[in-house]
Amino acid sequence: MKKILITRKLIKDSEEKASKTFEPIFNSNDELYSQSKVVDMSSGCDGILTSLTDKMDKETINKLPDTIKIISNFAVGFGNIDLDAAKKKGIIVTNTPEVLSDATAEIGILLILGACRRAAEGIESAREGGWKWSADYLIGKQLTGTRLGILGMGRIGQKIARIAKSLGMVIHYHNRSKLSDDREDGAIYHDNIKSLFSVSDVLSICCPATKETENMINKETVEYFPKGAIITNVARGDIIEDEALIDALNRRKIYAVGLDVYKNEPNLNPGYLKVKTAFILPHLGSATKDTRIAMANLAVDNIDEFFKTGNCKNKVN
Ligand code: DGY
Repeated sequence: MKKILITRKLIKDSEEKASKTFEPIFNSNDELYSQSKVVDMSSGCDGILTSLTDKMDKETINKLPDTIKIISNFAVGFGNIDLDAAKKKGIIVTNTPEVLSDATAEIGILLILGACRRAAEGIESAREGGWKWSADYLIGKQLTGTRLGILGMGRIGQKIARIAKSLGMVIHYHNRSKLSDDREDGAIYHDNIKSLFSVSDVLSICCPATKETENMINKETVEYFPKGAIITNVARGDIIEDEALIDALNRRKIYAVGLDVYKNEPNLNPGYLKVKTAFILPHLGSATKDTRIAMANLAVDNIDEFFKTGNCKNKVN
């Protein structure tokens, strides 16, 4: 049986599946391993089942034993892994697409609603007490008739588009390529981000973090938005240059944000904490029991498929 290091504790059902599929090394205390600990513990292993909290950079990958043939990431995103370094070392990297699209889209919608309807301020006032209803108390932005820009129209973006449309939002999007009419479902395509941002009363970031999308929201691009726009991010923190966005929030160029993901998680830029209209969550995108089981099971299946066939349909490098 292949020996696999599983760097984080999984939900019981998935650990049981892993035990039936290969010889796993579990992390029963769910300790956050350092990079050097991952290297040490992978000695004698054939593969590693990582999570997004494991930074598998070039240096770490180069130190892995030659017996490691697969890194199966327990996430759809794989920005935590240096794909080229893995490829050069003959290691395949896999991810867990599709199974988390619905759960992540739900959080995407929550971010839009929370930011537009001032949920952060509302929750704080309700907890503090002493609030007084009045005709203009915590007036927010109504979704009906509001233009939603979607950056990245993959599975998650398309699901957000469908729900947002049912709430009366008008959908615009930018993607590397235009979708078929069927998939577009009435959404308006923009072939560049300047054009998309300029019509986005609300933006939902759903694209993967890549060299091309890193810091796509920056000092320059933040100016493309209509004044008082709202930016939400359910993808990866690397897509936003925090200082530029916080500055835009402070001068009300951008009115509010809804964020689930950050650069340097869990240490988000403290500037966000000072902004009352920031509706912020701690990376909950895929956090439902069914989804986390489906993701972990798929990460296990990816390893199994690779050792049985020499390839894997969810290979990303
Ligand atoms: C992913 O899989 O990339 C999600 O962000 C995990 O929550």
